[in-house]
Amino acid sequence: MSVNHQLMAENAKKVAKTNLLDFEIGEKKDFINYDRVILKEILQQPGNSEYKNVINHIKKIADTNGVELGSIGGDGHVYYSLKELYFIFDELLKMQPQPKYAKNIPVAWRLEKAFVIALSNLKGGTGKSSSLIHLAIALALAGYTRPRILILDSDPQGQVYLSMDGRALDFNNVPSVGSICTKKTPRPTDKSQREFLLESAVIKSHITNIDFIPGQPEDQDLQKMLDNLYSEEKRGNKEAYKVLYKEIIEPLENDYDLILIDLPPANNIAVANAVYAADGIIIPAAARPMDAHSTLSYIPIISDWLTEFEESIEEYKPLGFMKLLPVADDSSTVARQQIRKFKQAMGADNVLKSIPFAKAYGMANSDNNKSLFDYPNQSQFLGSGGEWKDSTSAWKQTADTIMSEIEDLVLFNEV
Ligand SMILES: Nc1ncnc2c1ncn2[C@@H]1O[C@H](COP(=O)(O)OP(=O)(O)OP(=O)(O)O)[C@@H](O)[C@H]1O
Ligand SMILES: [Mg+2]
Repeated sequence: MSVNHQLMAENAKKVAKTNLLDFEIGEKKDFINYDRVILKEILQQPGNSEYKNVINHIKKIADTNGVELGSIGGDGHVYYSLKELYFIFDELLKMQPQPKYAKNIPVAWRLEKAFVIALSNLKGGTGKSSSLIHLAIALALAGYTRPRILILDSDPQGQVYLSMDGRALDFNNVPSVGSICTKKTPRPTDKSQREFLLESAVIKSHITNIDFIPGQPEDQDLQKMLDNLYSEEKRGNKEAYKVLYKEIIEPLENDYDLILIDLPPANNIAVANAVYAADGIIIPAAARPMDAHSTLSYIPIISDWLTEFEESIEEYKPLGFMKLLPVADDSSTVARQQIRKFKQAMGADNVLKSIPFAKAYGMANSDNNKSLFDYPNQSQFLGSGGEWKDSTSAWKQTADTIMSEIEDLVLFNEV
């Protein structure tokens, strides 16, 4: 007897399709609403008499623009979505004469050229994608500096869209990172690559300042294409390293401040493409012995790629930073030992503050692929409120660290 794998494959495809339809194509996931406390905080008037003033201004803004702002939650508080808050900030800044607290409203942070961060680790299931999603949102919220963020899902497992919008994607019509790089999705002849990407490939997420380009299983074709391209020359055709940069990143580098790349647990030319394009690399690694061991073995592999780029590609710009991010730190002795090893290997400065272990990620994920940031506050989180609070504040701290790292690099080193 033999296995009828072809029938299995056919059925698997059918079932996968039915699951997709369950999501209701076209329906976005729930938006998170942000508590007005955040607005008060950012206006630096917590609890004082200015608060009423702010609310009056918001009413004025709503009237002038003919929009409704904020919605009353079950607890009687007014909630504003992030999008509304940004709208309010911008309108407050425009108000003449300016309200006295307008000086406290941060002007949007802009980089001349996007800073590219690849999240990479050869080890599978060590927290790369969860870290990417939480870091991206924390960066989007960081200090309300509103960096324009683009996420590239360079992992053919293609999970990012589930947490970033959640609509089922019809890959016959939606370009993916792989289909763009392989030119399987052709660019209309009357459009520049930038126009094509912005009009047909980039998808808006449920967070105002995060867009993304999804990944899909067929993106494995990219790896085959790159292998073929590489072997065109005896010593390796170096153009094979530049495809992601040339086809997606370079055309969009003036439209975003940060580009974050999710990667598969693999070491191949497709991953090397992200390493090539990166200004910074973050290596998320669970603070467990098995994960730590493979992570440490991965460092020399990345270093080999970087050396090859430095030695053989004239226009290659050296990497700004390579940081290890210990995640799932359960504060056990074992976790501490692993983090110590990371520091010995990388230098303490290159190991970010660890992200605590939390069951909360799994719970949020089972709830429609939500991230922790998709709950407005700890009391609305279905799991432990304490875990929610500790985890979200850990991500905010990490985002702040990374933002200042980038500011230092861009201001003093010119990436
Ligand atoms: N800080 C954390 N605490 C506890 N669990 C976590 C934490 N971060 C991630 N996880 C869990 O670890 C599992 C793997 O995470 P994730 O999918 O992000 O890893 P990955 O490295 O992207 O995997 P892959 O190699 O398949 O791409 C998930 O179930 C996730 O919920
Ligand atoms: Mg992943």
